[in-house]
Amino acid sequence: MASATEIEIVHVNAPLGHEVRGVDLSRPLAARTVEAVERIFDMYGVITLRGQTITPEQHIAFSRHFGALERYPIDRFLLPGHPEIFVVSNIVEDGRAIGMADAGRVWHSDMHFTATPSRCSLLYAREVPMRDGRALGATLFASTAAAYDALPRDIKATVDGRRALNSYSRYVERRSAKVGGGKSGQSERTKQADQHPDVWHPLVRTHPRTGRKCLYISDEVTCAVEGMGETEGEQLLKELLAHITRPEFVYTHEWRVGDLLIWDNCSAVHNAIGDYGPDERRLMHRTTVAGGPTF
Ligand code: SIN
Repeated sequence: MASATEIEIVHVNAPLGHEVRGVDLSRPLAARTVEAVERIFDMYGVITLRGQTITPEQHIAFSRHFGALERYPIDRFLLPGHPEIFVVSNIVEDGRAIGMADAGRVWHSDMHFTATPSRCSLLYAREVPMRDGRALGATLFASTAAAYDALPRDIKATVDGRRALNSYSRYVERRSAKVGGGKSGQSERTKQADQHPDVWHPLVRTHPRTGRKCLYISDEVTCAVEGMGETEGEQLLKELLAHITRPEFVYTHEWRVGDLLIWDNCSAVHNAIGDYGPDERRLMHRTTVAGGPTF
């Protein structure tokens, strides 16, 4: 069993995205090891455990240490026999897409458009597209906590205590205008839209475990600000998103097969880069941990 004392953190030059070494998820984990990983995760918001060789069962069991698992709402992208795992992939087998090819291609946090958004997600890299020796299909992460801390005082006064409206229908409309109605997961998203009424969340969320304040905006989902007209609200959201995604708050994760990366859906937003072709195979397995009401 790995003990907490063997754990090492390898820091990256960003507020989040640090690597945690010394934990083998294919072996039984001591309770204090899991607690140490969770503490490091809470502290940084995005961490990677590289070089893991795990089964879907081990992925699910480790994820459950962080809370109850949520099922992704689109059934046909769930791993057969393991519906806790959402498959993100461009692979087509026997004429059938085995996963969602274009998941997360916009700055967002998971299930932002629900009343109780997910706590965190754990993405495991099974196949990573490579071209000329370089990995493709990176994922970008931005620290919404560091971005909040760095806001000028007058902007903090504007955003603190205000709510913003989040709309899945609006996201589906915007994606449809960009990628076309029939592309990849788009037709499933359209079916889902009716089941997700618009929801208000604080524009500045308090992290339920660390107490840190975090800007809470997903591009194309967060669409209006309480007490502001449409144009003024949209302009503020655009400026805040540009601030969150400034280079000093962003970590680019270049995937290697065997990476298990955990991201927090309050203190971070992420964006998957689709810079690979349909024949350059990418296969990722994601579990999603339930969260609670926002405040
Ligand atoms: C996601 O947002 O769940 C997908 C992230 C990725 O594929 O890199």
